[in-house]
Amino acid sequence: MRLCVIPGDGIGREVVPAAVAVLQELLPDLEIVQADGGWDCFQRTGTAMPEATLQAVRTCGAGLFGAVSSPSRAVTGYRSAILTLRRELELFANVRPVRSLPGLTSREDVDLIVVRENTEGLYVGRERSEPGGAVAERRITEAASRRIGARALDLACGHSGGRLTIVHKANVLPLTDGLFRDSVRAVIGEAESPRVGDLIVDELLVDVAALKLLEAPQRFGVIVTTNLFGDILSDAAAHWCGGLGLAPSLNWGEGVAVAEPVHGSAPDIAGTGAANPAAAILSAALLVRHVWQRPAMADLIEGAVRRAMQASGPAAGTAAIGDAVRRNLEVAAASG
Ligand code: NAD
Ligand code: IPM
Ligand code: MN
Repeated sequence: MRLCVIPGDGIGREVVPAAVAVLQELLPDLEIVQADGGWDCFQRTGTAMPEATLQAVRTCGAGLFGAVSSPSRAVTGYRSAILTLRRELELFANVRPVRSLPGLTSREDVDLIVVRENTEGLYVGRERSEPGGAVAERRITEAASRRIGARALDLACGHSGGRLTIVHKANVLPLTDGLFRDSVRAVIGEAESPRVGDLIVDELLVDVAALKLLEAPQRFGVIVTTNLFGDILSDAAAHWCGGLGLAPSLNWGEGVAVAEPVHGSAPDIAGTGAANPAAAILSAALLVRHVWQRPAMADLIEGAVRRAMQASGPAAGTAAIGDAVRRNLEVAAASG
């Protein structure tokens, strides 16, 4: 079993070692391959995502990515490391579970997954200037919509929420978002699993979906949506699991996946030791669950994080939380 580790920039370099330590505690034979990527890498080498890193993730079949910084202005030759990774490895599904933490979050009944299409939409990276303005391309294809629909359907069949909600803006974008919605519906219609019959499938326009995520988050099971809507809704939904310090994700393709906390490089706290490593540890648990297919081990990690959060709170700092999670794992192992 091999894992390619790309800490990246800022707090990525602080939270990733905490997550690797948890994995090593449970999987002593796990081989770790360190790889470069991110803004600092771009400044040193002229590329944010070296070909060697892409190859290392392909070879390992699994990656753990910390976070990278990106300038919010055009920089010649620069393309975000994480976007390149998603695109080049066709990590087409970005799976972002949000679960409330009893005793820590303001609600106790939230258990949803945002399944975000991860390769197209507004992220195709085609912007151009034109006289008096600029244009960004937003691309939706039937093939990509069907494959994200199929992945979301699989996840919804295994999820206790019993509901799959398609989120789109087909009232304004009938060609693109209409195609997305219809493609996802077609995949559901063609599915033969008897579990599909038990699912409630519905759809919401993205604006009202945002309101309902604030107003009644417990109504959601699995949400499937296009790239930018998923980016925005997953940060908003993360409020219910305790904020960005606790929100995990898995960029998941065919035969290769990269776990990644939803948060960024957090320059405001980088270097202070304040970053919560829980999101990175929970992201590693998604690899354990979905890629290495060890659900009992993933439950163990999630339980250890939950107890660490309940005992110390999310502000205890990287080292204290990492230690507490590993101690909880030892206690769980000792008690069988
Ligand atoms: P951010 O997620 O880095 O930070 C937002 C806020 O959440 C900050 O106040 C930060 O301190 C806090 N926060 C984030 N993670 C935390 C943690 N683990 N523990 C405690 N607090 C945490 O988003 P931003 O400030 O908008 O962006 C900073 C940089 O990160 C930008 O360059 C952006 O492009 C990049 N970014 C990268 C990724 C990624 O690599 N996947 C994701 C989002 C943003
Ligand atoms: C995320 C981030 C990225 C995105 C950025 C860093 C390119 O916000 O993983 O959610 O927009 O997808
Ligand atoms: Mn985001």
